[in-house]
Amino acid sequence: PDLGTYETLELDLTDHVLTLTVNRPKALNALSQQVVVDLWKALTAIQDSCTHDAGWPVRGVIVTGAGGKAFVAGADIREMSAMDPDTASEYGRSMHAVTLLLEKVPVPVIAAVDGFALGGGCELALACDFIYASEAARFGQPEVNLGLVPGFGGSVRLPQRVGLGPARELIYTGRQIDAAEALRLGLVNRVLPTRDELFEAARATLAEVIGKAPLAVGLSKQSIAGAVGRRTSKGLEVEAEAFREAFTTADMQEGTAAFLEKRKAVFIGR
Ligand code: HXC
Repeated sequence: PDLGTYETLELDLTDHVLTLTVNRPKALNALSQQVVVDLWKALTAIQDSCTHDAGWPVRGVIVTGAGGKAFVAGADIREMSAMDPDTASEYGRSMHAVTLLLEKVPVPVIAAVDGFALGGGCELALACDFIYASEAARFGQPEVNLGLVPGFGGSVRLPQRVGLGPARELIYTGRQIDAAEALRLGLVNRVLPTRDELFEAARATLAEVIGKAPLAVGLSKQSIAGAVGRRTSKGLEVEAEAFREAFTTADMQEGTAAFLEKRKAVFIGR
């Protein structure tokens, strides 16, 4: 499939897992305006490929950063320092759109964090379905050190992930935490000793998901995203719609039939 080529991103598709690497190691993979545009285009291409007709080439995504020292060290401070409020607002909103797209692509997205995930980097990771980290990972929202506030969704998604108290403490202090602390807070799902083991673990989890019915996985994701931040009754409504839609799929017929026939299901993404 043609998912495009990008100035600031590397794409690798292996066994239906797309690894999306932010590739600006000299600036610790900071999210320049070009990176935001590239992320938007790449995620749109992925979204469009997730259909039966397009063959579902991508069934899971790993988001990471190049160079081994940082996942993403934040928004690009050099570019931001020269922005007027309107340009900065556009920049924030364009990254909001990217984070919403990460939550919308109907396949699991794992952030593989090795090294610094600060500010916009932490926020990028938070927009992924969940985070795996290496022992070298460091997280933080250091915006207050720069006279800024989280602008790529951190004030919404960090409290959702770790609860209000810990989120406030991290955002008000700008403090960095290590992988063990991030695990304790529930910010990351798993910590692996090395970068290699980090990617192995992310791929293994995605391989497990790839064995399932793709539409059911996509609808589960949509259902969770629809429920977050809403009243329980509204969340249940969104869930109910997704539940009904699952029943219109061939894969649901196949999955339930396979169970009853005591055989392994063969899913087709339809
Ligand atoms: C632009 C950055 C950068 C960033 C690092 N670099 N982070 N450039 N934007 N966010 C550049 C440095 O300027 C330097 O370039 C090179 O990358 C290597 O970084 P060093 O600082 O030399 O590395 P080190 O001393 O090891 O320190 C690592 C670090 C530090 C602790 C991660 O780089 C750091 O504090 N970075 C900023 C982290 C941060 O505050 N992020 C939040 C940004 S605000 P040269 O050319 O000198 O080699 C944000 C807001 C989001 O994200 C919302 C906006 C709408």
